Amino acid sequence: MLRRTAVAIVLCVFPWGFVFGQGTSAERAPDTLQARVLACAACHGKEGEGTDNDYFPRLAGKPAGYLYNQLTAFRDGRRQYPPMNYLLAYLPDAYLKTIADYFARQRPPYPPASTPAVSPQLLRRGQQLVKEGDRTRNIPACAACHGAALTGMDPAIPGLLGLHAQYISAQLGAWRYGTRSSIAPDCMHDVASRLGNDDITAVAAWLAASPGPANPAPAPARSLKLPIACGSEPQ
Ligand code: HEC
Ligand code: HEC
Repeated sequence: MLRRTAVAIVLCVFPWGFVFGQGTSAERAPDTLQARVLACAACHGKEGEGTDNDYFPRLAGKPAGYLYNQLTAFRDGRRQYPPMNYLLAYLPDAYLKTIADYFARQRPPYPPASTPAVSPQLLRRGQQLVKEGDRTRNIPACAACHGAALTGMDPAIPGLLGLHAQYISAQLGAWRYGTRSSIAPDCMHDVASRLGNDDITAVAAWLAASPGPANPAPAPARSLKLPIACGSEPQ
């Protein structure tokens, strides 16, 4: 319901001509990138900081290459969310790159960490998977690729803090079931496929309950040796 309301607001308040600067009205707002990305604000926050909605992700500060890969994935149908697919359809690569660079540069504060709705045991399991992984099941630590501070790595691995638990578990589920796919070899498909339902609940709850990092900058490119090859982050 919330999502539908947000879509309706966006569709009413920001007709496409305004959003993408092709309108002819003399009264339209100045054609700046800030004005254009207002179309994103209802769902992602003014600076991409995210909103209270459980399913709308933070964009701010994620590496530009990662954001760009997601924008092309929505445009080209490798990720499914109809309002996003529709908003980005037909936009040229260069424009998506400008939008990605804009959100990657934003540094709004992180939201307060959420109070976990799971047992302390499950929370410990989440922490263990994120920091150490699980050798017995061949699950690499999330931190091995997302960085010890979980702020991601340039150019294309995202940070995992400041996201809602529901968003994280939905993404891991989408990789398992093939409704979200990344550039091959799709390492997140491999990782998500090794996780059970409880593991997903555990990592999502622990990540969402962790405070934002003091320094949100992603780790420098190639500073981490990935345990599995990722097509989006060639080494
Ligand atoms: C109606 C709400 C809505 C609007 C408007 C919207 N988005 Fe989104 N966006 C979402 C949702 C929901 C997702 C997560 C979808 C999924 O993968 O399940 C998402 C995902 C994304 C992602 C991927 C984030 C990540 O961490 O993987 C990017 C990048 C993004 N949106 C950029 C934009 C930009 C740029 C605009 C404006 C041109 C925009 N969005 C407008 C709802 C919206
Ligand atoms: C081998 C490296 C690697 C490991 C290990 C890994 N990830 Fe990822 N992860 C990636 C890459 C690369 C992406 C970007 C994929 C894309 O471009 O869509 C990503 C993206 C994500 C996203 C999407 C974030 C968003 O904003 O939509 C989530 C959630 C995620 N990983 C969670 C995890 C969790 C939880 C673990 C540990 C259980 C983990 N990852 C382990 C490489 C890894």
